[in-house]
Amino acid sequence: MPLDLVVFAFWAMLPAYVPNNVAVLAGGGAPIDGGRTMGGRRLLGDGKTWRGTAVGTLAGVALAQALNFLGPVVVRLTGVSVPAFPLPAALGLALGAMLGDIAASFIKRRTGRERGAAFPVVDQLDFVAGALACAALADLGWFLDTFSLAVLGVVVVLTPVLHVATNGIAYLLGLKEEPY
Ligand code: CTP
Ligand code: MG
Repeated sequence: MPLDLVVFAFWAMLPAYVPNNVAVLAGGGAPIDGGRTMGGRRLLGDGKTWRGTAVGTLAGVALAQALNFLGPVVVRLTGVSVPAFPLPAALGLALGAMLGDIAASFIKRRTGRERGAAFPVVDQLDFVAGALACAALADLGWFLDTFSLAVLGVVVVLTPVLHVATNGIAYLLGLKEEPY
């Protein structure tokens, strides 16, 4: 994998990577499903809260603004190109990442997995699918310019590695109850 491509892909996905991690820190309070159940199980569960979702999304959008400032500096210093984030694209990536994770919770509950249960592959890629789908909906031109097949390939390989690593660290620091 050429380093330039890895840097570009990582940069493009940062506004999608940060929201779920911020939600872990900011979560709590009222659950999105309001305690409602479906077929005897929670719709989503206590792990998906309004506060975690809102703060996580805002953090992703704010990070995209910071990256828009830093991008030109990085390009000048290193010559590596990185994408800029128009507001709709930033919002699509950040909110989409949270929605992907929420959709996965819905599927987990329907398939009998309790809150916090591991769901390999889905846990690592739910937020990527949500982020890419919502970014494409929010700003298709930007999405197509940014996510070439090569970049998408790097994202699909890189994300699970980063996800396992960051969640493992959050677990070791006592921030998360499970290491996934
Ligand atoms: N969190 C939140 N709101 C979200 C996502 C996460 O408040 N939309 C917080 C919750 O405190 C949650 C923690 O981050 O417990 C860890 O997130 P995650 O692992 O996604 O949730 P789980 O508790 O494992 O629940 P689930 O099995 O439904 O994924
Ligand atoms: Mg979990």
